Amino acid sequence: MSVLAPETVSLVDPGLYATGDPHPVWRWMRDNDPVRRYDATEYPAFWSLTRYDDIRTVFQDARVFSSARGILLRPHAHGKDPGGGRTLALTDPPRHKALRTLVADWFTTRSVRSLEDAMRGAVRRVVSRAATLGECDFVTDVAARLPLYVICRLMGVPDHEQEMLFSLTSKAFGAGEPETRSVAHQEIMAYFVELMYRRMDEPEDDLVSALVNGEVDGQLLSEEDILLNCDNLLVGGTENVRLAVSGGMKTFLDRPAEWERLRADRALMPTAVEEVLRWTSSATHIMRTVTEPVMLRDRPLEAGDRVVMWTPSANRDERHFENPDTFDITRRPNRHLALGAGTHFCLGAMMTRTEMRILFTELLDSEYRIEQTAPAVPLRSIVVNGLESLPVRISAR
Ligand code: HEM
Repeated sequence: MSVLAPETVSLVDPGLYATGDPHPVWRWMRDNDPVRRYDATEYPAFWSLTRYDDIRTVFQDARVFSSARGILLRPHAHGKDPGGGRTLALTDPPRHKALRTLVADWFTTRSVRSLEDAMRGAVRRVVSRAATLGECDFVTDVAARLPLYVICRLMGVPDHEQEMLFSLTSKAFGAGEPETRSVAHQEIMAYFVELMYRRMDEPEDDLVSALVNGEVDGQLLSEEDILLNCDNLLVGGTENVRLAVSGGMKTFLDRPAEWERLRADRALMPTAVEEVLRWTSSATHIMRTVTEPVMLRDRPLEAGDRVVMWTPSANRDERHFENPDTFDITRRPNRHLALGAGTHFCLGAMMTRTEMRILFTELLDSEYRIEQTAPAVPLRSIVVNGLESLPVRISAR
């Protein structure tokens, strides 16, 4: 990757994330053009934000920076985001608050704590299964399984249907052909249609029942709104945790002394988890649409303009973090933006931190050691970044 002409590098080229290193480009942007205008290509025109302070400002102003027209850049050819104005992440206040209140109970400290023992049991099963495979892919065989198990529990997916959903989500979010992925995604939606009808007949104490029976502005949600929200929770709840955990594991495999340091001093676990979140920053970008004319630094933004926030760049901003390019499991304070900020701050934040803590703790406590057996393969995407695969051997110590 050339750092000589970073202004010529396209941040919306997925190849940059699959084969290059976007960090030198983002660093150049932060120093030279922090609010940069990109003209329309296959994507609409947008303002690109790379500095921590600007990104935090936008996250915290849901009135001027709306989520209702989508939070991800979409090629023109894909049309409008169907979730716009309907899913939790793609709704503005005041509807957003009503929707968030409907599902918030499942994400409280109390709810997360009540799942901890089950999570520990699930991780032990996953790790011992992976060990029987000899060589395996840490991403799909380990990192992807705990978050899927947890979101299935919350949504009320019965245990015996989870393996089927796991296989479908692996296909839908994996690296296969677009056709295979799209078919798998349709099958997931068909599964949720069926689960939704089951809960309409017989509600239970789960998230799908809450969406089916809950009201927003005195009205039940439409079936389509319920399904879009289920999809959103499934994707949000699994994809990013998978990437943070596998990216974190790879970082520790590259720095064995840090892994041993964590093994020796478990009191470092909370700061280590935050540092893994900052370091991996798996949500590559989050978008907003401007609702009224506003100045951002010296740039005049108009209503309707799109603003794209590169969260991994915010989390390496040298104006905010000391030695941002050093992975430091003792870093404190560490007010990273990996989970967003403000009104739309990640609903699954507590869940994520608990899943990561339990997974890393179980791996450190286990009788197994983990060795990387082949190069990791990065994802080719402008939406999320991290590893598509991480070949490892999990064997007795
Ligand atoms: C490493 C793991 C995770 C990362 C990096 C992550 C990242 C984010 C970010 C950046 C946002 C803000 C989006 C915005 O401002 O537009 C967000 C929102 C959200 N996240 Fe997460 N997330 C993670 C895990 C989870 C989990 C485990 C769940 C659910 C079980 C979840 C559910 C959600 C939901 C529902 C929202 C929308 C909240 C709202 O709009 O009020 N996330 N997440």
